[in-house]
Amino acid sequence: MKVFVTGGAGYIGSHTLVQLLAAGHEVCVFDNFANSSPVALDRVRQLTNRGIGLVEADIRDADALRDAVTTFAPDAVMHFAGLKAVGESSSLPLLYYQTNVSGTMNLLAAMDAAGCKRIVFSSSATVYGEAHYLPFDEDHPIAPTNPYGRTKAMAEGIIGDWAKATAGASAVLLRYFNPVGAHESGRIGEDPRDIPNNLMPFVAQVAVGRRDRLSIFGDDYDTRDGTGERDYINVVDLAAAHLAAIEYASRAAGCEAINVGTGRGITVKELVAAYERACGRTLPVEIASRRPGDVASSYAATVKARDLLGWNAVLDIDAMCASSWLWQSTNPDGYGDRQ
Ligand code: NAD
Ligand code: UD1
Repeated sequence: MKVFVTGGAGYIGSHTLVQLLAAGHEVCVFDNFANSSPVALDRVRQLTNRGIGLVEADIRDADALRDAVTTFAPDAVMHFAGLKAVGESSSLPLLYYQTNVSGTMNLLAAMDAAGCKRIVFSSSATVYGEAHYLPFDEDHPIAPTNPYGRTKAMAEGIIGDWAKATAGASAVLLRYFNPVGAHESGRIGEDPRDIPNNLMPFVAQVAVGRRDRLSIFGDDYDTRDGTGERDYINVVDLAAAHLAAIEYASRAAGCEAINVGTGRGITVKELVAAYERACGRTLPVEIASRRPGDVASSYAATVKARDLLGWNAVLDIDAMCASSWLWQSTNPDGYGDRQ
């Protein structure tokens, strides 16, 4: 299959490229490197011994996107490109709506121009907002609590409307829980530009000595050990879900939202303990106050992914921490070209 991959140089995109290329698909990446490095694509080429088409441009540029999609003439599109920092989305909301919402509309218009009818979209469990019940299933009300989450909910709705209006179209909206970990080679991984907001990259930087200590945001939640509980999903399992999703989109028309998680919550303290096993030392932590907007627990119902995609997560928290540590310890400055 020919797969057009927006945001393919990013964290999740690069891991998915490895599996697409290994499975024999032909890929074209469309990325402006706003939050990624061309070195990631070089590493994917080395890992797979395969070529990667690249168009360096912005998804807000509708003409560039249409030209790229019509020239490549893909069988399917994977849409990773977007901005994802929750805090930044509150200070720069228009940038987030332009990139995540208008960018998605530009992409659908480009697909129409090229006659491409299959799309797999990177959505987020953040669209659910506060948990009315757990685990989150796909029928849980959608009520995002920040601009980033609203861009994802809007893009989901637009893709759904497009799929309804386009004969034979097929869209899969993958709602990721908390992607972590790295390729088992340690050659590609997550390379945050600024101080990481998310737990796992922060812990990784503490382990490698780039940060003094981890602040645990609250130990008085109603969970096993009082710390926040999340559904961490290995990025390698997540990449496999994308391959299952384009296969599904090839045989089923319509639009489906599907959770991608393990179905199991891990607390902050449990994640730190697993990371200590991976890196072989005790990590300095302190208990700090709760982070505003945080919930106690979040984890996925995974039945729909199993039933529709035939996919389930196989890698556990120790594998996630081991691969993260291999990547972080062998690439302490990430791809090394953005500091
Ligand atoms: P990332 O920032 O590593 O990757 C996004 C890629 O999109 C980068 O390569 C970036 O350069 C590119 N990009 C950004 N703006 C662009 C633009 N205007 N034009 C062209 N390219 C642009 O992020 P990621 O973690 O790989 O996330 C991929 C997708 O998954 C995003 O849409 C994100 O919202 C979604 N998602 C991520 C998480 C997570 O925790 N990582 C969770 C849920 C959903
Ligand atoms: C965050 C985003 C969410 C996004 C998700 C993607 C916020 C408010 N939410 O959620 O929209 O979909 O990432 O992966 O940013 N923690 C610490 N110390 C830290 C960092 C985090 O104790 O330095 C704790 C948090 O309180 C939480 C857990 O670790 O209990 C996980 O945090 P994080 O990795 O930021 O993920 P989410 O809170 O799920």
